[in-house]
Amino acid sequence: MLQTKIKILANKKIAPEYYKMALESPEIVRTSTPGQFLHIRVSNNSEPLLRRPFGIHSIKDTGEFEILYRVVGKGTALLSKKKAEEELDVLGPLGNGFKFPVAGNETMVLIGGGAGIAPLFFLAQKAHHLRQIIVLIGGKTKDQVLCEEEFKKLGIEVRIATEDGSYGHKGLVTDLLNALLHTSLSIFACGPLPMQKRISIFSSEHNLSCQVSLESRMACGIGACLGCAIKVKGESTTYKRVCIEGPVFEAKEIMWE
Ligand SMILES: Cc1cc2nc3c(=O)[nH]c(=O)nc-3n(C[C@H](O)[C@H](O)[C@H](O)COP(=O)(O)OP(=O)(O)OC[C@H]3O[C@@H](n4cnc5c(N)ncnc54)[C@H](O)[C@@H]3O)c2cc1C
Ligand code: FES
Repeated sequence: MLQTKIKILANKKIAPEYYKMALESPEIVRTSTPGQFLHIRVSNNSEPLLRRPFGIHSIKDTGEFEILYRVVGKGTALLSKKKAEEELDVLGPLGNGFKFPVAGNETMVLIGGGAGIAPLFFLAQKAHHLRQIIVLIGGKTKDQVLCEEEFKKLGIEVRIATEDGSYGHKGLVTDLLNALLHTSLSIFACGPLPMQKRISIFSSEHNLSCQVSLESRMACGIGACLGCAIKVKGESTTYKRVCIEGPVFEAKEIMWE
């Protein structure tokens, strides 16, 4: 784990509310695995005090990497105002990422909703030489369908669902899973909690391996404050910290509320 100041190379709006920020750190590129996250100080003063966590979205051999984020509140609004050449104080890479490649010849199905697609692209970059991958991208509307072209450039098949039917299948991204059941699958998901819960139930009903990358509110990011704890299954109620034991978990481990 590294705490360092990193130069911003670019910070561009890619869709309403969504931004991609490119940064330069050969060290982070060299040491990160897909699903790990960075804890970023978004302001130079104490407002907001706490860092904000973001998954690593993509890496390049040149030592550059990207985060993809949605503006949802004060911290992400501040991040969206940052300019090229400014520096960010970054802690990471943190946490445990996705376990891959999967056993046998299973097709890896990556399922992302909204900003949940962010860490799945890094996974695709690392895994597409090793296994067949299909990506399912979901959003409420067409605007929220992100990274379709980027996955296609890697030669990966992409299927899309929007809740309002403005692009692809009309309905939930989880609807698209049924059509894939004829082949042997391993699922990797990131997105809103209700989506992850549905995917987890689906995978347990069909006996599929499924890893989910969870988002919980974080303070320290390094296992000290217990602020990010989630309930997991066990003989009595047990908790795990998203920042240390996660953010990626086996779906069957999670006690979904
Ligand atoms: C491991 C991890 C990886 C993440 N990766 C990404 C990513 O790649 N791209 C991205 O856009 N976002 C990601 N997030 C979520 C991101 O950290 C939050 O959206 C961000 O911290 C919000 O900060 P804010 O100050 O703008 O919002 P706040 O003002 O703090 O909150 C605004 C709203 O967002 C909700 N919110 C805030 N933080 C979280 C959170 N951690 N989980 C769920 N809801 C939250 C609040 O409940 C509130 O409704 C990740 C979170 C975690 C834990
Ligand atoms: S954020 Fe402090 S223990 Fe996870």
